[in-house]
Amino acid sequence: MTYELDGILPHGGQLVNRIATPEQKQTFLSKADFLPRVQLNERAVSDLEMIAIGGFSPLTGFMNQEDYNSVVTNMRLANGLVWSIPITLSVAEEVADSLEEDSVIRLDNPAGDFIGVLHLTQKYHYDKTHEAINVYRTNDANHPGVQVLYNQPKVNLAGDVWLLQRDPHSQFPKYQIDPADSRLLFQAKGWKTVVGFQTRNPIHRAHEYIQKCALEIVDGLFLHPLVGATKEDDIPADIRMRCYEILMEKYYPKDRVTLAINPSAMRYAGPREAIFHALIRKNYGCTHFIVGRDHAGVGHYYGTYDAQYIFDEFEPGELGIVPMMFEHAFYCMRTKQMATSKTSPSTPEERIHLSGTKVREMLRRGELPPPEFSRPEVAAELARAMLVPIET
Ligand code: ADX
Repeated sequence: MTYELDGILPHGGQLVNRIATPEQKQTFLSKADFLPRVQLNERAVSDLEMIAIGGFSPLTGFMNQEDYNSVVTNMRLANGLVWSIPITLSVAEEVADSLEEDSVIRLDNPAGDFIGVLHLTQKYHYDKTHEAINVYRTNDANHPGVQVLYNQPKVNLAGDVWLLQRDPHSQFPKYQIDPADSRLLFQAKGWKTVVGFQTRNPIHRAHEYIQKCALEIVDGLFLHPLVGATKEDDIPADIRMRCYEILMEKYYPKDRVTLAINPSAMRYAGPREAIFHALIRKNYGCTHFIVGRDHAGVGHYYGTYDAQYIFDEFEPGELGIVPMMFEHAFYCMRTKQMATSKTSPSTPEERIHLSGTKVREMLRRGELPPPEFSRPEVAAELARAMLVPIET
């Protein structure tokens, strides 16, 4: 198969668009006061948006029981297409009891605004422990993804959705680039191959290194930081975006990089989420996707390269996007450059290992990360934004 952009179809073959037309919107709004309501939490708002803009193609709504069971157990939708993370909308039993199947439900955001519609086709109970063990590989309630799952209500609502009103992402209007737009943009730039980069952390030098290694091979880099819900101690998205802007100003070739936001919520599902992240970037038009060390991992729940090994479970044609795997990158004091054990002869003592977690810890201790960790401009911005009194 070819991985050139013209050949990169969205997952399932067609880019989904579930944004209500002005006429549909008018019709739904005219019924606003009469429809039963379900209030979405932050993650469900992200999921609704991702479905609507095609980021989760081929999903057209929240999963029914058949798809849900198949995804949890086999990492495939009921039709056999690869899909690794359940996309579900759960409500309390009393709420579910009050809703009728085959009815239209009004979906409100946490502020109570009418933002979407669900055509409810099915209500079903689900087994949280089974989902935790299969999707997160643990049933430990301390795992942040499992914790969210265990705190969810008990009944899933399934059905197609329409989005009436976008979350304006008012902090990042210029980076709100939907899959349909990114596909056109890549074409306009003449990029035949594009590598997508997922991140939930402030950019550090290992990120920069693997991005640039990838960019040596492909035409364009799609920097796609996740700005949906993350765990509380992760650095807020606006600070992370500012770091990217600062870095792009000085350290990146502007004509070969596009920065855009990914509105999804983080699951911390490690290997399963790496597949999910790759499929999302395929929908945005990427031909390649970076998977480094402990991708989408948290704590010590996953092995360093588990998120890479999981790609072996599929035929390349089934995913339709090429993973670019990178070993754990570090600053090598012997060769005075970023490297991995594939490219550096250094001893462990000569390696400065970097991670977002380490940078966060240093900042909290009031220390500025050294240049081997972060570019100085990024370190200064992090310290400023987090109001850390830095030792000089
Ligand atoms: S993630 O949860 O979004 O994966 P993070 O923002 O830290 O977390 O990582 C973004 C990407 O960079 C992931 O593919 C991750 O595997 C990779 N990565 C992060 N740090 C390193 C490193 N030191 N060496 C190699 N890859 C890394």
